[in-house]
Amino acid sequence: MSAKISPSRYTLTAALPYTNGPIHIGHLAGVYVPADIYARYLRIIGKDVLFVCGSDEHGVAISMKAKKEGISPKDVIDKYHGIIKQSFADFGISFDNYSRTSAPIHHETASEFFKKLYDQGDFIEETTAQLYDAEADQFLADRFVIGTCPKCGNEEAYGDQCENCGSSLNATDLIHPKSTITGSVPITKETTHWFLPLNRYEDFLRKWILEGHKNDWKPNVYGQCKSWIDGGLEPRAVTRDLDWGIPVPVKGGEGKVLYVWFDAPIGYISSTKEWAARENKDWEPYWKDENTKMVHFIGKDNIVFHCIIFPAILKAHGDYILPENVPANEFLNLEGNKLSTSKNWAVWLHEYLEEFPNMQDVLRYALTANAPETKDNDFTWKDFQARNNNELVAIFGNFVNRVVVLTNKYYDGQVPTAGNLLKVDTDTLEQLSKFPAVIESSLERYRFREASQELMNLARLGNKYLADEEPWKVIKEDEERVKTIMFVALQIATGLAVLSEPFLPFTSKKLKSILNVISNTSTTIGTSSDEMSWNDVSQKEILLSAGHQINKAELLFRKIEDKEIQTQLDKLEATKKQNEQMNKEVTPQKDTITFDDFSKLDMRVGTIVEAEKMAKAKKLLVLKVDTGLDTRTIVSGIAESFTPEEIVGKKVTVLVNLAPRALRGVESEGMILMTENTEGKLVFVNPDTSSPLSTGSEEVRNGEGIS
Ligand code: MF3
Ligand code: ZN
Repeated sequence: MSAKISPSRYTLTAALPYTNGPIHIGHLAGVYVPADIYARYLRIIGKDVLFVCGSDEHGVAISMKAKKEGISPKDVIDKYHGIIKQSFADFGISFDNYSRTSAPIHHETASEFFKKLYDQGDFIEETTAQLYDAEADQFLADRFVIGTCPKCGNEEAYGDQCENCGSSLNATDLIHPKSTITGSVPITKETTHWFLPLNRYEDFLRKWILEGHKNDWKPNVYGQCKSWIDGGLEPRAVTRDLDWGIPVPVKGGEGKVLYVWFDAPIGYISSTKEWAARENKDWEPYWKDENTKMVHFIGKDNIVFHCIIFPAILKAHGDYILPENVPANEFLNLEGNKLSTSKNWAVWLHEYLEEFPNMQDVLRYALTANAPETKDNDFTWKDFQARNNNELVAIFGNFVNRVVVLTNKYYDGQVPTAGNLLKVDTDTLEQLSKFPAVIESSLERYRFREASQELMNLARLGNKYLADEEPWKVIKEDEERVKTIMFVALQIATGLAVLSEPFLPFTSKKLKSILNVISNTSTTIGTSSDEMSWNDVSQKEILLSAGHQINKAELLFRKIEDKEIQTQLDKLEATKKQNEQMNKEVTPQKDTITFDDFSKLDMRVGTIVEAEKMAKAKKLLVLKVDTGLDTRTIVSGIAESFTPEEIVGKKVTVLVNLAPRALRGVESEGMILMTENTEGKLVFVNPDTSSPLSTGSEEVRNGEGIS
């Protein structure tokens, strides 16, 4: 094991989200909440931590979204960068810097990286046949092409990777490739690109990962790496024929851009530089000093890029440290189905906050307690409700509330002086002091679910202590004893305030303010040094000394009612219906006609002068219509909608040059144009402008004639 014993500095990165849409609970659960918990925890224990992220604004994901919305890629990234950045701030994700890959500092940094590797001879230049969409006049790579994964058979694998099995692919590996731009089957065309010969890094990767991190990397991560390395590493193109991205900065690179997965991870470095410039710090130790521990927080579809490709790039460069760990998570599903941006199958963070205002911590907690750490996991609204009502409200909130209310009631909010400590008291305090180490041990192994449950166990300890000691009963016979009980309970409440900070930062802040202990004012910048730390909980018996004044009780959590959950379920049900509707086959439009075809129709305004039922025909009326040219007979199938009396005298639109045909022995010499109104009722395409239908060209276009 090569894990650093006591690193002097930490560089934490969280995957740069693509700015092609807002972020949802899957992103939060898989990457940002665990990363944030870890960052906050390290800050509380007094480490030098840099936690960086930013928007991933290049690549085909962005171009595709722009094409779809008919706006420019720049419009797309500006829109979503703003939304995403806000969501992170709202959920208390405590980045030290949130940058974006469209920033000049990033373009410079990535270009320099490429140039250096190019100058060192670390790339191979090759002309190969690549997939090409002749209709769109564009090379197809990455998300511009889908096809069947040669490894697992997933029919929707992308041109650079399969999200089902995690394989990293070349577009030409896909079976039955199809352009996502036009839907056409691509041809191949020759083009020149630069490749990173990953095969040259096999020995290095074997030693570093397979030998060096067998025991400290998560089995899912280690396993994926092993299978790639054992499967044989191949040169991988790091440039693309696209018009959106960072221009290839070398001769021959005109019109080409860097592969998004070449530039994006370098975004962590650019984000660090941006932060350092702002904070007047030196960025280099965070990336180059061997005493820095770097950890990448990502989802499982990003493993190959962070464990194989980016390390190979860093290694080729030569000056950089490598990550100590890459604790990738599996995927989160929603109510049994895969989260999907395009199908709108998601809980969007900005929408959640509208519906559950100020309840960020509840979502953070529910997602952590049920995090997809070792396998894909399902988010259900019922579970969310249960985590809130049965744990946050009934255990954590209830304990704190009882302590604060009783302290105010018995002692006007002043921490009482403890008398003789009984065994139950010392045992309880002893247990309290063990929690930091227990939680720490889970966090150091990236077991965030376990850690969150340990936190809840501390609240359980408090609840049990109060339930056993029953201060509200004892107060009647032994006031001195109650002082001790409340003193002990207040220590636990304070312990909760400190230890909950990484998990429930908003709650922790509120609780600290209720207990009147120092809390820093910002939720986005970790903890200040004068704040109580983890160590205070494990080493001091007294967190809150006698005589300290606390504030009045405030509710930390509120119960979530069944109907609120039902609203969310209904919303998802509606989404499901909508998706089904969209997938339904619609009757295809009839063949296109030319304007000449259209101008053959002779339509005139006529007046119905006579109307009578056709004998023995339920649906038919025989009309006499004055067309202005003549008065002619028209048989119309409207008898179920209109009586003869009500239509005599009506102005109607008549197609007069329709070939005559006989209906039940009566020759019909034209057609009355009809359409359906929004209630599905048959109405005349009425030339009278006071009728709402008469002006709507839409209705006329959809109208079908009935004769
Ligand atoms: N944008 C990528 C995704 O959402 C992640 C990029 S991570 C980085 O899957 F390392 F490239 F930044
Ligand atoms: Zn696959």
